[in-house]
Amino acid sequence: MEKKEMETMLIHEGYNSHEHRGSLAPPLFQTSTYTFGTAEQGERSFAGSGEAYIYSRLGNPTVELFEKRTAALEGGAAALAFGSGMAAVSAALLAFLQAGDHVVCSKGLYGCTYGFLQLLEEKFGIAHTLCNMETEAGIEAALRPETKVIFVETPINPTMKLIDLALVAHTAGKHGIKTIVDNTFCSPYLQQPLLLGCDVVLHSATKYIGGHGDVIAGVVVCREAETAALLQPVRKDVGGIMSPFDAWLLLRGLKTLAVRMDRHCQNAEKVAAFLRQHPLVEQVWYPEDELAHRQMRKGGGVLAFTVRGGKEEAQAVMNRLRLIAIAVSLGDTETLIQHPATMTHAVVPPEVRQEMGIYENMLRLSVGLEAADDIIADLRQAME
Ligand SMILES: Cc1ncc(COP(=O)(O)O)c(C=O)c1O
Repeated sequence: MEKKEMETMLIHEGYNSHEHRGSLAPPLFQTSTYTFGTAEQGERSFAGSGEAYIYSRLGNPTVELFEKRTAALEGGAAALAFGSGMAAVSAALLAFLQAGDHVVCSKGLYGCTYGFLQLLEEKFGIAHTLCNMETEAGIEAALRPETKVIFVETPINPTMKLIDLALVAHTAGKHGIKTIVDNTFCSPYLQQPLLLGCDVVLHSATKYIGGHGDVIAGVVVCREAETAALLQPVRKDVGGIMSPFDAWLLLRGLKTLAVRMDRHCQNAEKVAAFLRQHPLVEQVWYPEDELAHRQMRKGGGVLAFTVRGGKEEAQAVMNRLRLIAIAVSLGDTETLIQHPATMTHAVVPPEVRQEMGIYENMLRLSVGLEAADDIIADLRQAME
C-alpha cells in the first residue's frame, strides 16, 4: 500500500480483507502452537526458514499485524509487541545493556521504570544518572565512557515536563549512544520520536493505543531492523509476549486513535483552563510551550496540578469526586485521577521525587472522553 495519512493507516495499514475471506475485522489467531505438514517442515522452520509459524511466543499472525501497523505509525522498520508496557521497557533496556554499563535518563520516569533501573543497578551494576536534558552541554556532562543508552519520557509522567527529542537524538548520535523514548503519553498520533532521530520508541499500549482500559500491553518500535534483531532474543527467552486476543483488541483500539486523541486533547485544554483560574489550584502543568508545538501535534490528554495545602487537601479533593474515578492508568475513555506521591511514584524515594518535581499536593488527571463540561463540573463541586 502506498504511504497514507496517519488516520488512514490506523484503520488499514498491513491488512487486506480479501486475503482473509473478506473479513473486515482482522482474524484472531487464538492459538498457542501451529501444526507442521511434515517433520521436515518442522525441522526447516526451527532452522529459521520462516515458511511456517512455530509457536505463539515466537510469532502469531494477529500479533504481527499489530506490530506491522504500529511500526508504520511510528515510522520504524520493525516493532515487537509485549505483554505489558514494563515488559517493553525492560526488554528494550536489556537488549542494549551489559553489566557495568551506564544509562542517562530524563529527570522523571514512570515509577516502575525507575524501579527497573534500580534493579539493574543492584543486580548488574548498571548505574543511571537523572538529567534534565535542557542543553547539549548538560546531556554531555551526564555521559560516561560506559553510557550505552539515553532513556527519556516526554511528556514526563506525571510532571508533564518535556524533553527536546531532536536535541537528545543529536547528542546521543554524536557519541554512538542509543536513544529510547517512552512515547506512552502521546501515542504515535501526537508525537513520532523516530522521525526526530531517536533509535527506539516504546509504549505502554495499555494506555491510548488500547484506549478502553481493558488490556495490559506494550510495544517497542525500532528505527532500524538491526536494532529490532537485538530485541528478538530478549523477548523470545524472557518471554514477555503479547497475547493474540490483546493484539486483536489493540487493533480495534488503534482504529479510533486519531478521533479519540483529538477529543482527549480538546477536553484536557478545557480542563486545564478551568483549573488555572481556580483559587484552590496552585499550579497546572499541561504541555503548550514552544517545544510542545515543535514536537507534538497537540498537548495530549493528561495534566498535573497542585492543590493548595498538602497531601491531605489533595486527597480530600479526590475523595469528593463523583464522576471522575480514583485510579492509576491513563488514556482510557473514563477520566481518572491519581496521587503520584502515594500511588504510581510511591516506589521512588521522597528525595528523588522532590528532585523530579513530584510534590505531595500534586494530582495527575487523565482526561477522558466524557463531556468536558461534566468533567469540569465534577472538579468544581469537589473543590467547593
Ligand atoms: C509512561 C509509562 N511507561 C510505562 C508504563 C508501564 O506500562 P504497563 O502498566 O502497561 O506495564 C506506564 C504505566 O503507567 C507509563 O505510564
